[in-house]
Amino acid sequence: MRTMSRTARFVALSLLFALPVLAEVQGPAIEVFSPDGRVQFALATTDTGELRYTVTFGDETVIEQSALGLQFVDHFPLEYGLDIVSVKRASNDTSWVQPWGERRLVRDHHNEAFFKIRATDLPPRSFGLRVRVFDDGIGFRYELAEQAHYEYWVRIADELTEFRVPVDATAWWIPGRAWNRYEFLYRETGLDEILLANTPMTLKLQSGTHLSLHEAALVDYAGYVLDQRRDGVFQTNLTPRSDGVRVEAQVPFATPWRTIQLADDAIGLINSDLILNLNEPNVLGDVSWVEPGKYIGIWWAMHINERTWGSGENHGATTAEAKRYIDFAAEHGFDGVLVEGWNIGWDGEWFNNGSVFRFAEPYPDFDIHAVTDYALERGVRLVGHHETSGHITNYERQLEAALDLYESTGVRQIKTGYVADGGDLVRIDDRGIRHNEWHDSQFAARHYLHVLEEAAKRKISINTHEPIKDTGLRRTYPNWLSREGARGQEFNAWAQPPNPPEHTVMLSFTRMLSGPMDFTPGIFDLTFNGDDDPNRVSTTLAKQLALYVVLYSPIQMAADLPENYGRFPDMFQFIVDVPTDWEESMAIAGDVGDYVVFARQERGSEDWYLGAITNEHVRDLEIPLAFLAEDRSYTATIYRDGDDAHWKDNPYDYVIEERTLDHAQSLELRLAAGGGAAIRFQPVDKE
Ligand code: NOJ
Ligand code: CA
Repeated sequence: MRTMSRTARFVALSLLFALPVLAEVQGPAIEVFSPDGRVQFALATTDTGELRYTVTFGDETVIEQSALGLQFVDHFPLEYGLDIVSVKRASNDTSWVQPWGERRLVRDHHNEAFFKIRATDLPPRSFGLRVRVFDDGIGFRYELAEQAHYEYWVRIADELTEFRVPVDATAWWIPGRAWNRYEFLYRETGLDEILLANTPMTLKLQSGTHLSLHEAALVDYAGYVLDQRRDGVFQTNLTPRSDGVRVEAQVPFATPWRTIQLADDAIGLINSDLILNLNEPNVLGDVSWVEPGKYIGIWWAMHINERTWGSGENHGATTAEAKRYIDFAAEHGFDGVLVEGWNIGWDGEWFNNGSVFRFAEPYPDFDIHAVTDYALERGVRLVGHHETSGHITNYERQLEAALDLYESTGVRQIKTGYVADGGDLVRIDDRGIRHNEWHDSQFAARHYLHVLEEAAKRKISINTHEPIKDTGLRRTYPNWLSREGARGQEFNAWAQPPNPPEHTVMLSFTRMLSGPMDFTPGIFDLTFNGDDDPNRVSTTLAKQLALYVVLYSPIQMAADLPENYGRFPDMFQFIVDVPTDWEESMAIAGDVGDYVVFARQERGSEDWYLGAITNEHVRDLEIPLAFLAEDRSYTATIYRDGDDAHWKDNPYDYVIEERTLDHAQSLELRLAAGGGAAIRFQPVDKE
């Protein structure tokens, strides 16, 4: 080195550090194929005994040689000196029923391999790698069995799983481990702009193949963010607890599944059930008490500053106001009325005062028993609310009493909230010391599930805001009805910038791949602060209707003030009619961030619904209606943008028209800039 010039030394050194360390793979890889033979997972070891896996999709390598392994606080790592000792294979082709969902029947068709892997250091230890290969992607997880040299508890210092993707891919992503949790605008960039990204992250390869990297069944473990360690090499960076340990676990245990969904096009990712299939079946037994449905609420009024959560003359949650909403709900067939701000603790800066919330104590102007009795008389239920402002300990201390109160007043559903910056959940330990934790740490994963389990004991379902990411646990705990976990409608009320026209189109191909979202569509007064204010809803009116079909959630809110629905009663009819529980769903056209079209069949009915949305560009679509049943024609009630509609200058220009259509036809639809369309199809002979 001494004789080298400074430049030559710099070049040599940067080469040394920039080149991916690709150890030689030894011996033939062991392969697992999808049922259709197109997806292949191959596992091999290097000459130093490190595991490497690759994934191919048809002829294309989509995940190049990537590392696997775990590091521990108190043990040698499971990283090198590893031997594949045995492979046990299995196959599955079954279907299972969702108690509620975007489709009733889900097919789980995969081939499985369980690799037993031995670490040859002394004393030798072993672990398992379970891999499931579906036609639409792959899941794998580590399994640590009980054995002499692990103590009961193991502490994981790092997980070494890599996803090495082609460097010229395009990504749609939000930053990971950042202050606003999952509530960022999605970005479309090359990989070079990514440091840490949340999952699911969506990728498009040069070939057109689409990938989604995520995880399934995150139980008692830390969530991970994708950490780009080298160009194109993403590692599972587990979110640490406040003591620095990423995960503490008791053997035997399995990690969540690491997932790679694969499709030829963007909508193929949406039509995949891989995440649900990798979750365990329902553990709650009879869940007929879990009720999909629609709700309204004393909610938007606070976000647009017409009312306050806290007490005073503008208090939103009064008995009288709640009754007014209940009347509106009963009149229009809504199932629930959410009331926020009825319990003590909202005065002052509520988002900084999590320690003062009293979850079972109403403000004097809110008579919870009068309200819930009135609601039940009118065939409506109060939707409960627990805002914690991220103070987990304060909430957990009151949790059982708070749930008991709701159970005794006929409440079946609670919206929870965890407004606190990323990394700022509050935990007070046994000695009274305060710690700060992340929303996707193992601590938080345990908390969210604890609430679910306590709620289930009382036949209550949960809609989590500021949640941990969705990994498909609704299959195992069907009372986890919905969650936020992305920028929702509320950002239009007060954030700069508000959600741009492309935002909801992005959500379909990114956040929504993980599961339902309580986005809260249906704002009819789009420029609530006046035409010139930067805060507004950047859609046409027709697009607000389309969101009920596009953004799946078993509970959907009609988010606007009741009085605003009176302005467009003919458009409001679609919100009244649209169901929230489906026999079948399919994305039938779309591209990430540009546009998307969904068709869904109502559960227990022959009716179909269609929702189409576009970003800021006008779009002419020709939509094949092949999803309709073959033997009949349908009356289609079409709620669409008028010819002059535009989200910015002319959002209320709409047309409602009826047409008779059948499955052999295509429907031409023009979506305005920032626009959309919503359609109800009813079989003609049914009318
Ligand atoms: C955050 C939720 O996302 C929002 O909908 C709610 O109004 C506030 N928390 C207050 O609880
Ligand atoms: Ca929120």
